[in-house]
Amino acid sequence: MIKKAIAVMTSGGDSPGMNAAARAVVRTALFEGVEVYGINNGYQGMVDDDIVPLDRKSVSDIIQRGGTFLGTARCMEFKTPEGRKKGFDNLVKRGVEGLVIIGGDGSLTGGSLLSKETGLPIVGLPGTIDNDVWGMDYTIGCDTAANTIVDAINKLRDTASAHRRIILVEVMGRHSGWLAMMSGIAGGAEYILVPEVKFDMDEMCTELKEMYAAGKRYSIIVVAEGAGSAVELGKVVAEKTEIDTRVSVLGHIQRGGSPTVEDRMKASMLGEKAALAIISGATNVVFGFNEGKVVGVNLFDAVNNKKTLDPELVRLARVLA
Ligand code: ADP
Ligand code: F6P
Repeated sequence: MIKKAIAVMTSGGDSPGMNAAARAVVRTALFEGVEVYGINNGYQGMVDDDIVPLDRKSVSDIIQRGGTFLGTARCMEFKTPEGRKKGFDNLVKRGVEGLVIIGGDGSLTGGSLLSKETGLPIVGLPGTIDNDVWGMDYTIGCDTAANTIVDAINKLRDTASAHRRIILVEVMGRHSGWLAMMSGIAGGAEYILVPEVKFDMDEMCTELKEMYAAGKRYSIIVVAEGAGSAVELGKVVAEKTEIDTRVSVLGHIQRGGSPTVEDRMKASMLGEKAALAIISGATNVVFGFNEGKVVGVNLFDAVNNKKTLDPELVRLARVLA
């Protein structure tokens, strides 16, 4: 049971809804009579002692904002045991007895090492647009990012159709095709290229030629960045199909923006859950949503297993294309 203080941080790539999650952690802890510290800029702030007390007002007016008011960073020093010890000491000197980490796979891995080496109680929340945390089908921010992509696809389809073009849309996901799959299916894409599934360029280009010969006016090919560069793939498509082809790389626009209702709601629910759990003495657990329900996944299982792409979605994408 934590009596004095907890800390909360955001880490890794920011995602819309991180603010809602941190706000819920802070307000729940204060409601329970526990102090809360905010660690600025992820593990970098922990190592550099950039840690500040938070009150109710610190998290006012942020639920509607993308990004993270705490800041985030990628910190090499935390990858060393010495860096982690330095960060831990900065928490201990303030009386921090537990830590809530909101971040992706890498951030949770860092947290699992911190827990192992220091025994500091840790609760994780999956904050990443990639939707690639094992044991859950939702991560905070993936819904907003997918909506941003679908909005872009809708617009690209208009202009592709006007010109009878093929447009390749590159979306984020260095190691995971989840975001591409979600937005590609919801956006009605003809093809969705992801790192997890081998694709045959010749076959795709032959099909595209046949479709255009039969009168099709547009095609949208969603490319997860981990499946290859859309610019390079676009050159091959243009050459092989001889159909006018354009490429749109969406980039960091996908990471920003006001979170959707789904991301705000789920982040708020998970934030409360995380705060209550850490205060009541839980550790090494990551809370997320799976099939619409809150689930608690062991932190070490979450970081040691790789979430695979749902083959049902891969199949569905082909059927509906
Ligand atoms: P994400 O959390 O979005 O997956 P990263 O993979 O960039 O983002 O990780 C964020 C930070 O977490 C890293 O900059 C580093 O400080 C920490 N981290 C990531 N992987 C490890 C690791 N294997 N050991 C220790 N810390 C790590
Ligand atoms: O992990 C989130 C993510 O947005 C990935 O989808 C993407 O590959 C990466 O971060 C981009 O990171 P950076 O912030 O270094 O541009």
